[in-house]
Amino acid sequence: MLSIILLGTFISLGSAQCDTVETGYQCDTSISHNWGNYAPYFSVPSTISADTPAGCSISFVNLLSRHGARFPTTSKTTEYEELFEQIHANTTSYSAEYDFIKNYTYDLGANDLTAFGQQEMIHSGIKFYERYKTLTTLYTPFFRSSSDDRVVESAQNFSQGFHQARGSIDPNYPYPILLISEDDGQNNTLYAQLCTNYEDGPDSDIANDAEDTWRDVWISEVKTRVNDNLIDASLSKSQIIYLMDQCPFNTIANVNGTISSFCGLFNEMEWENYNYYRSLSKWYADLQGNPLGPTQGVGFAAELIARMTNNRNYVTDANSYTSINHTLDYFSTTFPLGPDLVHPLYADFSHDDDLGSIFAALGLYNSTANLSNITLETTTQTNGYSAGWTVPFAARAYFEKMVCLSEVEELVRVVINDRVVPLQNCDADSLGRCTLSKFVASQSFVTGGGLWGQCFD
Ligand SMILES: *[C@@H]1O[C@H](CO)[C@@H](O)[C@H](O)[C@H]1NC(C)=O
Ligand SMILES: *[C@@H]1O[C@H](CO)[C@@H](O)[C@H](O)[C@H]1NC(C)=O
Ligand SMILES: *[C@@H]1O[C@H](CO)[C@@H](O)[C@H](O)[C@H]1NC(C)=O
Ligand SMILES: *[C@@H]1O[C@H](CO)[C@@H](O)[C@H](O)[C@H]1NC(C)=O
Ligand SMILES: *[C@@H]1O[C@H](CO)[C@@H](O)[C@H](O)[C@H]1NC(C)=O
Ligand SMILES: *[C@@H]1O[C@H](CO)[C@@H](O)[C@H](O)[C@H]1NC(C)=O
Ligand SMILES: *[C@@H]1O[C@H](CO)[C@@H](O)[C@H](O)[C@H]1NC(C)=O
Ligand SMILES: *[C@@H]1O[C@H](CO)[C@@H](O)[C@H](O)[C@H]1NC(C)=O
Ligand SMILES: *[C@@H]1O[C@H](CO)[C@@H](O)[C@H](O)[C@H]1NC(C)=O
Repeated sequence: MLSIILLGTFISLGSAQCDTVETGYQCDTSISHNWGNYAPYFSVPSTISADTPAGCSISFVNLLSRHGARFPTTSKTTEYEELFEQIHANTTSYSAEYDFIKNYTYDLGANDLTAFGQQEMIHSGIKFYERYKTLTTLYTPFFRSSSDDRVVESAQNFSQGFHQARGSIDPNYPYPILLISEDDGQNNTLYAQLCTNYEDGPDSDIANDAEDTWRDVWISEVKTRVNDNLIDASLSKSQIIYLMDQCPFNTIANVNGTISSFCGLFNEMEWENYNYYRSLSKWYADLQGNPLGPTQGVGFAAELIARMTNNRNYVTDANSYTSINHTLDYFSTTFPLGPDLVHPLYADFSHDDDLGSIFAALGLYNSTANLSNITLETTTQTNGYSAGWTVPFAARAYFEKMVCLSEVEELVRVVINDRVVPLQNCDADSLGRCTLSKFVASQSFVTGGGLWGQCFD
């Protein structure tokens, strides 16, 4: 017991510099909170307090988490290797500020969680345990994970942190995690790829057009400056973005999250522009900017409603023929519900694109107009939507129900990265909450299967 407590202390000390359990990544925030979906999780400012309101107690939580910080994907790895090959082959003179690049060798891994990313997930598990202590001391979440290695490992590291916070006394650890396959042809509400007419996430033309249009608004002067500091490198506009990507990816490759030297090559305004670039990418891939974006999330959203209402019909009726695997959702071993089996805690692990589509399916950003591709919009203008505020690495949404003294019915609330996101179209109160029945009534898009029919010709 003592050694476990000491180990816990050691773990937090080892990473105390930049990432903490309570507020996430807090070093160089004017830069690091502007990396869109490449930012490490940080506690987002909330207009409404995310605490449990006085007179209420939490009766149900479904965590939906993105995996922790990872190395670049395989396709980006190729682009980054070419970037440095070109710089090293062709630069005839480096300015003092850029001189470190001369000896820089690109040797990051690919696809997997970084050590920092594993630590983020352990922190997330500890935070979840502490935040929902009235439930977590009594119950263990029902865990599900999409089958990709980095997602599964994230679920494991989260459960590790949860177990550690509990005092490492539960004999049922390691907790079972239901894996749902990402293979072609498999139905998976944590990886909705069945919809064949959906222009695939970030690679869709709509998302690419929005990114390119916005990039071209601000990148020229950055490109000129970088190329003036790397004589004859002749980097293209997209390579300037790739050079900016080196800042988040080299930062999260440091186990303690120490900010990378690449970050200082760009100023704060440029990081804001970059952040908005990443927000456009996600908005036009996964949310309302993409005609079938919200539809990708309806399967999970229906599962959430089934869990909140203890009603399996939402995942077995005719409208549920979406990304749901009906074999899994039919059985209480693979899709447990109450009230016969009390199950107030669920924890699901997935990817940024899936989280975005699920938020869109639930209509959480319905009051946000399509993001402009020519003018930077603030998070006030976008009603709290930005990729960095919603789907950073180790992002976590808490879908809560609470019982309150003054209310007959349970209330529903959504907290994304510590920010309360007020529910839409269900008479939300000043704390952003709706009664369960009004929340369910507002979810006709979900309970009708979204536009799933348009997925197939
Ligand atoms: C270096 O520049 C030359 C001439 O512009 C170009 O042909 C070559 O592809 C460049 N090398 C790399 C590695 O990009
Ligand atoms: C790059 O490496 C060379 C050879 O190891 C060394 O002499 C030089 O000082 C290094 N330059 C920088 C900027 O680290
Ligand atoms: C995270 O989980 C993986 C897989 O279970 C494990 O190998 C790794 O050691 C964990 N990371 C830490 C920091 O404990
Ligand atoms: C549904 O889940 C079952 C159990 O894991 C699996 O055998 C089956 O292949 C899945 N079917 C589809 C279409 O995903
Ligand atoms: C970008 O803006 C142009 C001009 O306003 C518009 O025609 C185009 O549809 C926009 N694209 C996206 C993806 O918003
Ligand atoms: C953080 O890690 C980097 C290398 O990953 C190391 O150079 C640096 O000294 C470490 N900083 C602290 C404060 O531990
Ligand atoms: C937002 O843009 C998408 C296309 O990118 C379009 O289908 C949708 O209708 C637009 N939404 C609104 C409210 O204009
Ligand atoms: C998988 O999804 C397809 C498309 O929605 C549906 O037709 C099929 O019945 C589903 N299979 C299972 C096992 O749920
Ligand atoms: C969000 O907007 C979509 C499209 O207009 C609509 O179908 C859906 O019902 C709305 N959701 C909520 C919760 O208002």
